[in-house]
Amino acid sequence: MPLLVANWKMHGTRAMALDYAFAVNAALEMAPASIECIFCPPFPYLAAAHSGLPQNARLELGAQDCAAGQEGAFTGAVSARMLADVGCSHVILGHSERRAMGETDAQVAAKAEAALEAGLTPILCVGETEAENAKGLTVQVLEKQLGFFKKLPAGRRMVAYEPVWAIGSGKTPKAEEIAAAHKQVKTALGSATPVLYGGSVKPSNLREILRVSGVDGVLIGGASRDSAEMKTMIELAGQTGKGQG
Ligand code: PGA
Repeated sequence: MPLLVANWKMHGTRAMALDYAFAVNAALEMAPASIECIFCPPFPYLAAAHSGLPQNARLELGAQDCAAGQEGAFTGAVSARMLADVGCSHVILGHSERRAMGETDAQVAAKAEAALEAGLTPILCVGETEAENAKGLTVQVLEKQLGFFKKLPAGRRMVAYEPVWAIGSGKTPKAEEIAAAHKQVKTALGSATPVLYGGSVKPSNLREILRVSGVDGVLIGGASRDSAEMKTMIELAGQTGKGQG
């Protein structure tokens, strides 16, 4: 820790993913051993990214979603077992962009079970909308979204607190709001559960965010797509002196 997760969303090409994995891993090799990084490109580029990495690469791979089952007649679905087979160690689940497409807590829970069964670490995204924030409902929203996650094995789960209104908007919560949300997650799941912050993280605010109490890393969308910016963020993370070892 700190852990930097690069979420490309539905962007990029195969060639870009290949070059990026190589370049970001090279930057990681120069960074303090405590810095961790997970690259989450779209499904079709995972195998390409994996092939661009050396054997003992420090850069890990994650997917942006997975199915609830491991195989079967589910046209268009990709299972956690398939993701593990192409080199993934993690999977982002319950991102607000997927919840906005109708994904429920129960579906996210089933996917998390499947991820664990396949040996992947689920990164559960939680966070309130702007309207919920305005009504002071953040605590209740997080409590509901975290509910099932409490039952999963402690060493094999991560959470990303991503206020929906901060994603892609350039807005970020105040440090004390981030600290309060992270404290709530750690109180619910145990202090050993890594909790990342996500929402408009970029080189200019990274260090400030990583210094907030309870922040073990960041989930980066837009600013993660450029390998030069990612390299800068890896260097900056190495300067925070947080969680050495
Ligand atoms: P952003 O996205 O960094 O572009 O705000 C973060 C996310 O959605 O994970």
